[in-house]
Amino acid sequence: MSDRIHTLSGYFYEYQKSVTEPESFWARIADSFHWKKRWDKVLKWDFEGPNVKWFVNGKLNITENIFEKNLFAFGDRTAIIWEPSEPGEDVRTISYKELYHQVCQFSNALKSKGIQKGDRVIIYMPMIPEAAIAMLACARIGAIHSVVFAGFSANALTDRIIDSGAKAILTSDGNYRGNKKIGIKAIVDEALEKADVETVIVCQRTGQDVTMKAGRDHWWHEVIVGEKDSNVAKEMDSEDPLFILYTSGSTGKPKGVVHSTAGYMVYTKYTFENVFQYSPGDVYWCTADIGWITGHSYIVYGPLLSGATTLMFEGVPTYPDPGRFWAVIEKHKVNQFYTAPTAIRALQAYGTDPIAPYNLDSLKVLGSVGEPINEEAWRWYYNHIGQSRCPIVDTWWQTETGGILVSPIAGITPTKPAFATLPLPGIQLAIVDPEGNELTGNSVEGNLCIKYPWPSMIRTLWGDHGRCKETYFSTYKGMYFTGDGVKRDHDGYYRILGRVDDVINVSGHRMGTAEVENAINEHPLVIESAVVGYPHEVKGQGIYAFVICDMSHRTEENLINEIKETVSKIIGPIAKPDKIQIVSGLPKTRSGKIMRRILRKVAEGSTDNMGDTSTLLDPEVVTKIIEGRK
Ligand code: PRX
Repeated sequence: MSDRIHTLSGYFYEYQKSVTEPESFWARIADSFHWKKRWDKVLKWDFEGPNVKWFVNGKLNITENIFEKNLFAFGDRTAIIWEPSEPGEDVRTISYKELYHQVCQFSNALKSKGIQKGDRVIIYMPMIPEAAIAMLACARIGAIHSVVFAGFSANALTDRIIDSGAKAILTSDGNYRGNKKIGIKAIVDEALEKADVETVIVCQRTGQDVTMKAGRDHWWHEVIVGEKDSNVAKEMDSEDPLFILYTSGSTGKPKGVVHSTAGYMVYTKYTFENVFQYSPGDVYWCTADIGWITGHSYIVYGPLLSGATTLMFEGVPTYPDPGRFWAVIEKHKVNQFYTAPTAIRALQAYGTDPIAPYNLDSLKVLGSVGEPINEEAWRWYYNHIGQSRCPIVDTWWQTETGGILVSPIAGITPTKPAFATLPLPGIQLAIVDPEGNELTGNSVEGNLCIKYPWPSMIRTLWGDHGRCKETYFSTYKGMYFTGDGVKRDHDGYYRILGRVDDVINVSGHRMGTAEVENAINEHPLVIESAVVGYPHEVKGQGIYAFVICDMSHRTEENLINEIKETVSKIIGPIAKPDKIQIVSGLPKTRSGKIMRRILRKVAEGSTDNMGDTSTLLDPEVVTKIIEGRK
């Protein structure tokens, strides 16, 4: 851990170096990794293409940097602690050596099934160690994994199978949600009615009955029989894709964000060690799901590249009771705990009684990710979980950024509630006004852009480079546009204000309003819909849908329930609108554009001043919507 920042002046020194000499800065960090062949040039880039290449012509395999590089030093150290959903079930601990053998064995099985470098493999699995093994086994042989959150519907899965051109799906029979068993394989079967893959491998978890299609479907525990538990990792180019992760944007179709190998590896390890100030022997726990970028970068890759002990939790924060997180922290003596504001707010609602029985003295660092953390939740987290002694790292980043870009360095950067504080080394931020002029100096507010490449940045959108350029590199010339609004205060600290585009953030899950509208419109009685976010006490933002329907066949209540079910079926339960208001018309301009600004005000309940409505085709519509508001 030689690239560790230890002091605030050390941070400023490193930051300065990373800006004045970025290539030598990153070369120094990358030199601590194992390369099959060292790179020729650190960075080639233009944001016009965009065309970004880090560690050009370097050859490596990311799993060699987790295993071969470290096995002699700490093969017996625990890599993964797995805490099951049911508190009475046995914990699993897997050492680095055991993980290495399991990854090799499963990667050999994948090869036996004809999966090769560059093939896409979908992983649709619960939070069990095999999900991490599946990711690493793909990386071991150069297959590109695409993890799909197991809460997504069959329909959403079909779209991702087709878009990625996946050759195989790795899944499980079922998943535990509290004391319920949810059929996962059955969802895969449904998804495969409209898409095709050569191979499905099913890991046994719940033991529930599943249908296995002969020739296509295989059991995990059977395919590994007879496979060797070692192999030579596939040589990958620095820029070969490591994975695709689908995320929501402002149009209906999810985007397949592509991350490449070397830059992602260097950046996730560097940021993991620095942000969390991880020390060997610490137990680190990130509560995200591996279906999201946080699970990729800070449950699997970052921690394992650092030789850390990473805890994986199968369950939910409230099962069997709302003290579960605190029970797990005590049980495994967790040192770094990384979760989402929505979970904090949900648990805060139960008060401090569920915390009282547990000893949280092991905690050293608390983390927050996924959405802006409000000051009240920050203080509750700091006082009651961190016992007013653990620094909170409020980490701002995105699926597209691959790793944390703005965050305190634990215990080193002075924190301020609700502020992500300062950019990490290598991250050159710009705040711009709507015309794209950079706002310099402090006490400014605008849109957040990044002016210079960083190693783990998005390379392209799978199958659609044009959309990548259009979405991120065209709004402001020569800059990556994040889609977030931001404020830089008088101290130069950054506070993220939330999305400025048509993306909403529900319980830390990113959702495109267009995506939800498309799903609502699938209901046969829906004529048109418009979706906006509104402030929600626990979820951060809730989904509010204004829907025009043919009302001649149903009661309003039945129709609303059916629409919710439709969305759940098409995207997944996470996208279900919190509120649906049936309306007779939507506020549109003369050119037919929906004025969402007005709908947002109605959804928020701030209807006193609707602003200028003179450009509306029919201003009467607004009065009716306000009257009909629930
Ligand atoms: O709006 C920002 C918000 O989450 C968005 C990225 O979502 P996603 O790609 O799903 O990745 C989430 C996990 C990295 C951002 O554009 N966001 C994420 N972290 C924070 C945040 N907003 C405020 N503060 C944060 N710490």
